[in-house]
Amino acid sequence: MGRYVGAIDQGTTSSRFIVFDRRGDIVAQAQKEHAQIYPRPGWVEHDAVEIWRNIQAVIGDGLALAGLVPADIVGVGIANQRETTLVWDRRTGAPLHNALVWQDTRVDAMANRLASEAGAGGRDRLRARTGLPLASYFSGLKLKWLLEHVPGLRAKAEAGEALFGTVDSWIVWNLTGGPEGGRHVTDVTNASRTQLLDINRLAWDEDILDLFAIPAVMLPRLVSSSEIYGEAHDVLAGVPVAGILGDQQAALVGQACFTPGEAKNTYGTGSFTLINTGETPFQSTCGLITTVAYQFGAAKAVYALEGSIAVTGALVQWLRDNLGLIPSSGEIEPLARSVENNGDVYIVPAFSGLYAPHWRPDARGVICGLTRFANKGHIARAALEASAYQTYDVLKAMVADSGIAITELRADGGMAANELLMQFQSDVLGVPVVRPKVVETTALGAAYAAGLATGYWTSAEDLKRNWGVDRRWEPTMPVHEREKLLGAWRKALERSLGWVE
Ligand code: G3P
Repeated sequence: MGRYVGAIDQGTTSSRFIVFDRRGDIVAQAQKEHAQIYPRPGWVEHDAVEIWRNIQAVIGDGLALAGLVPADIVGVGIANQRETTLVWDRRTGAPLHNALVWQDTRVDAMANRLASEAGAGGRDRLRARTGLPLASYFSGLKLKWLLEHVPGLRAKAEAGEALFGTVDSWIVWNLTGGPEGGRHVTDVTNASRTQLLDINRLAWDEDILDLFAIPAVMLPRLVSSSEIYGEAHDVLAGVPVAGILGDQQAALVGQACFTPGEAKNTYGTGSFTLINTGETPFQSTCGLITTVAYQFGAAKAVYALEGSIAVTGALVQWLRDNLGLIPSSGEIEPLARSVENNGDVYIVPAFSGLYAPHWRPDARGVICGLTRFANKGHIARAALEASAYQTYDVLKAMVADSGIAITELRADGGMAANELLMQFQSDVLGVPVVRPKVVETTALGAAYAAGLATGYWTSAEDLKRNWGVDRRWEPTMPVHEREKLLGAWRKALERSLGWVE
């Protein structure tokens, strides 16, 4: 029996392979970035073939670095950027278009049109079934766009020759693809982000497929988040592929939030707060979305409320890449520390409109409060603060929705390394922020799913024992100061709305 579990973490900007031991500690890891393709303002694409090649490369590198061979791995799990939409040829496995990335806003007009149809229920018309508002974020409308714009795709799909999948499906297809072709599956957490899944029945929704004119034959088979889907070929030859979770759900699992009321926030390209709400889907009235959190094998699915924020870490990357303000993302913290406060500068990074809890596709980014006094330190600080204010807004909605008082926030993701942000986050929330010892919680969650399916770990209790605190930040800011900052943030937010007609 192999000694370790592997996890593929395929994110918006890079792919990683991480090997964990039974205590959840990292044994080996490798990472590779892929290109972001921006054909027009608001459009974001990925090359699916590049992503698959990068995954092969990081698996090879990760194993080699630790002197491991596939036989050392008992199972591999997948955590992936969600909603990103792919279509490929069943026979050749070749993509039929670049992947449309979750941030892509090209279907805004479609979403608006469906929301404004008379008597249909507006932006929330599909909420009761899917847990989601009509927005460009989710896969269903992206797939509709592809079917309408890629020549020949609809005919191919109807003939069963073109397949749809989110990134998890693409990876499993390639990983399990021998001469007879790969498995075409998706787990219920990823499916719950397509807006094509009835989250109550955990089945594809025929009415929505009709509404979006999507042929059911191109959809993947629904599976749980933790079971053996097939055996890997290629770089992981012989290893069971045994876990799939959307990356934010994977982080919830990696943070061992198995009890209703437990919440985590992952600070990545965007930020995603999820709170475990137990075995019944809880409908939000405050702008959050309802999503499947995980389903381990034959056990009942567990749901979560989610506050999705499109841009947090991506704002830091934008300051680095588009403005050249910092040479590397890590430089944001010293630059922000070079000033005492934000100097009255606020940034609302509504690059893809605003997601939760506002759902305003008409919003665009603004920097406000500028005076001759403001310098790049204030801009850096405002960028970090924007992550904290946006997180405050979704947590406030979460408390209003669920009635559950959040007593601490478990933080992870790249920006959780930023101590200034963690302290400020605790200050604006007025509750402690806790960072766990293993911050690679996304990959860890995928490893847990695969490890449970293969008997490497036996229960959630096993996994909870692996969770430990690295650092805890307590709120220290006086209430009146917090109120002043949040008041100014709200004014900045208002200025970002309605920019796009
Ligand atoms: O919903 C989008 C989310 O899954 C992306 O996560 O970490 O790849 O930015 P990340």
